[in-house]
Amino acid sequence: MKKNENINFPGNPVPTIATKEFFHHVIQFAKKHQIVILHDFAYSELYYEEKPISFLSIDGTRDVGIKFNSLSKSFNMAGCRIGYVLGNEDVIKGLNRLKSNLDYGVFIPIQKAAIHALNDKSNFSSDLRKTYKNRRDVLVNGLNEIGWKVESPKASMFFRAKVPSSYTSTDFAYRLIDDAGIVVTPGNAFGPSCEG
Ligand SMILES: Cc1ncc(COP(=O)(O)O)c(C=O)c1O
Repeated sequence: MKKNENINFPGNPVPTIATKEFFHHVIQFAKKHQIVILHDFAYSELYYEEKPISFLSIDGTRDVGIKFNSLSKSFNMAGCRIGYVLGNEDVIKGLNRLKSNLDYGVFIPIQKAAIHALNDKSNFSSDLRKTYKNRRDVLVNGLNEIGWKVESPKASMFFRAKVPSSYTSTDFAYRLIDDAGIVVTPGNAFGPSCEG
């Protein structure tokens, strides 16, 4: 394998869910170009209508890559720097070698909190989904009601909207801060094709 490529679905900043067909295409692409695929599945639990597919549930993915998950979003443990990785044994061995030269084990109380979270049998995830879904619906319905037509994100905590045509993304973001006290990220922060 020569290079690696990172994909994140459901995505940041594009809240899209990958399809099985897309993952099949990714596997073929990785094999053809001899690259390793790293699937970042940080938003696996933050979905609203349809559960996102795990990359590793598709035949052939273990030949080409691994899946990361983080407890940052699923268990509100952002900043704790704790997650896990599954998939291709050789890639994980390489990652292990790299990480053991780069940094240290995570602080033990955080590891214990993570074990507790992963063994949790309560409704934490579904309650969290309800909280975010409620916020999403308030925002999407509110904007649609005032005539600002927006799409409802299927997953994650991200939301994208077209800025009014008389503004650039940056000017509009400043206007929201100045006039409404609302902070957003201008689309062009994600590249020129996200301008507007
Ligand atoms: C797609 C994606 N992966 C990973 C992370 C961060 O995970 P961690 O806090 O474990 O570094 C984020 C958070 O912003 C994210 O959006």
